[in-house]
Amino acid sequence: MRSKKKKIPLIRPYITDEVKARVCEVLDSGYLTEGLVTAAFEDAFRAYIGCKHAIAVTSCTTGLEMALRVLNIGPGDEVIVPDYTYPATADVVALVGAKIVLVDINPATMLIDYDAAEQAITKRTKAIIPVSLFGNPLDYDRLVEMKAHHGIYIVEDAACALGAEYHGKKVGNQADIAVFSLHPRKFITTGEGGMITTNHAEWAAWLNSFKHFGMGSHTNREGTVFERIGTNYKLSNILAAIGLVQMKHIDELLERRRTLSRRYRELLKGCKAITFPETTPGGSNSYQSACIFLENRDTIMYSLRAKGIEVQIGTYSLHLHPAFTPGEGCEIKGMLSGSLFAYEHCLVLPLYHEMTEEDQDAVIRELRGHFQEK
Ligand SMILES: Cc1ncc(COP(=O)(O)O)c(C=O)c1O
Repeated sequence: MRSKKKKIPLIRPYITDEVKARVCEVLDSGYLTEGLVTAAFEDAFRAYIGCKHAIAVTSCTTGLEMALRVLNIGPGDEVIVPDYTYPATADVVALVGAKIVLVDINPATMLIDYDAAEQAITKRTKAIIPVSLFGNPLDYDRLVEMKAHHGIYIVEDAACALGAEYHGKKVGNQADIAVFSLHPRKFITTGEGGMITTNHAEWAAWLNSFKHFGMGSHTNREGTVFERIGTNYKLSNILAAIGLVQMKHIDELLERRRTLSRRYRELLKGCKAITFPETTPGGSNSYQSACIFLENRDTIMYSLRAKGIEVQIGTYSLHLHPAFTPGEGCEIKGMLSGSLFAYEHCLVLPLYHEMTEEDQDAVIRELRGHFQEK
């Protein structure tokens, strides 16, 4: 039996003695801002994804904002965003002065409804920000077709999708620009942080310069030349050290998540009240979150929490929030029934590399207890 006091967290970051030692090395070195450790982290990320450029930034949100800026998206432009996502996906569109166009998701995959997105394209549409939500890769064949047909950019919000694959290729290669989050809900985490990936050299150079106050690659008599207006979205050596050690162990961390996710499915599959989201055909899910659908989600969520099992809703239906009230800066196209379904029924279960089968069994037992099934 699980001890009454033992809590089961939603996620637990991978912070080992090896991570702590590497962080201490950075602290001892005195080089705390972005530097060689950040560059090594970018290299490890790039090699893992198999893309040409990886640029470390302060968060996925700042990375997405930069992606829109490098593509010259701003006032007068429209950007299509799924309604079911974290607000950051849409916030960045408003931050650069463009119009947010919200469309529905497919409730089976919780990913953008490609037909709805295509129907929402107008002369003003510059880009689409599809989200590989919860580690589920997108249908990039469909997105690339849309890009070719309508001449729009694909900026992927890959906040949750590190390690996911589509037809054997890692997420981070398919979109024009993809941006990952390194927030602690993600299994590679630097506390706060993000990583932009692209195969486009000019964009990569601009992104690198922009996050470094607009610094150019050449120097003059005084040293640095500032070629453009920029900002400071750099990721410090201290944070990069955490990510760098975690990247060494990414395969084993990912394998553990996949094993535990499969086990949830196997042990819950007889329970008729529980259904599971579908993975995109041809895709390999990285299971950033272990999601299930439940009819009476809230009752079960509060009951599990009361028993010390940390569970969470999936994410948000943006149109329900005042920030995304339709108006000049935001438009809703079509029905949003898929988004509302996911918002009301998706529950995220605990999943982390150290999770024991015993802890997972406890979650399953509590869940099943609600349906009086064995
Ligand atoms: C889909 C999605 N996009 C963007 C973000 C924002 O990421 P960050 O906190 O790194 O800015 C999140 C955060 O959880 C997210 O889930």
